[in-house]
Amino acid sequence: MFTAIAMFACSANVRAAGGSEVFASNCIVCHQPDAKGVQGIYPPLAETVGNYVKLKQGRAYLAHVPSFGLTGVIVTNGESIDGNMPPLSQLSDDDIAAVINYILTKFNQRLLPADFKPLTTDEVHGYRAKPMTETEVHNERAALFEALKKAGDLK
Ligand code: HEC
Repeated sequence: MFTAIAMFACSANVRAAGGSEVFASNCIVCHQPDAKGVQGIYPPLAETVGNYVKLKQGRAYLAHVPSFGLTGVIVTNGESIDGNMPPLSQLSDDDIAAVINYILTKFNQRLLPADFKPLTTDEVHGYRAKPMTETEVHNERAALFEALKKAGDLK
């Protein structure tokens, strides 16, 4: 019985789930169906992360968070959240590309750069090649925000 379930889960992964499906089964429990999060606890992914892909390092950061987790205080939309997101290491490169593209195109259209190109599976594979700690991902976010501010890309 248990093996059958595991096999089923495995074949479901191979079948390249769509972004909305990956989001529904792995993210909405915390980030909510409208991706607006829960105030003070789970950050919004709507109307925020579209800014990040104005720089290439933001694409890497967005792939790193679900791959490796994130911990420490973050400021988003002027609100401080001291949370911890565990890594969702069961997700394939394909799942991560699909879910990030879904979040960007569904909930962040207004912020996307005009030349935005969806993340590809190969690109995500490269971003995941070297494991990171949750704190390293947090430091990566800080560096990304510095670079975005410098480039005038944060509104
Ligand atoms: C168990 C709850 C939980 C789940 C499930 C979860 N997250 Fe998170 N997520 C968080 C928390 C909490 C944070 C903020 C962590 C912190 O404060 O350091 C976060 C932060 C993020 C960020 C960083 C936002 C920013 O402004 O830098 C992204 C991107 C993200 N999550 C994407 C996802 C995706 C994609 C999924 C599903 C594949 C997902 N999360 C599933 C709780 C969760």
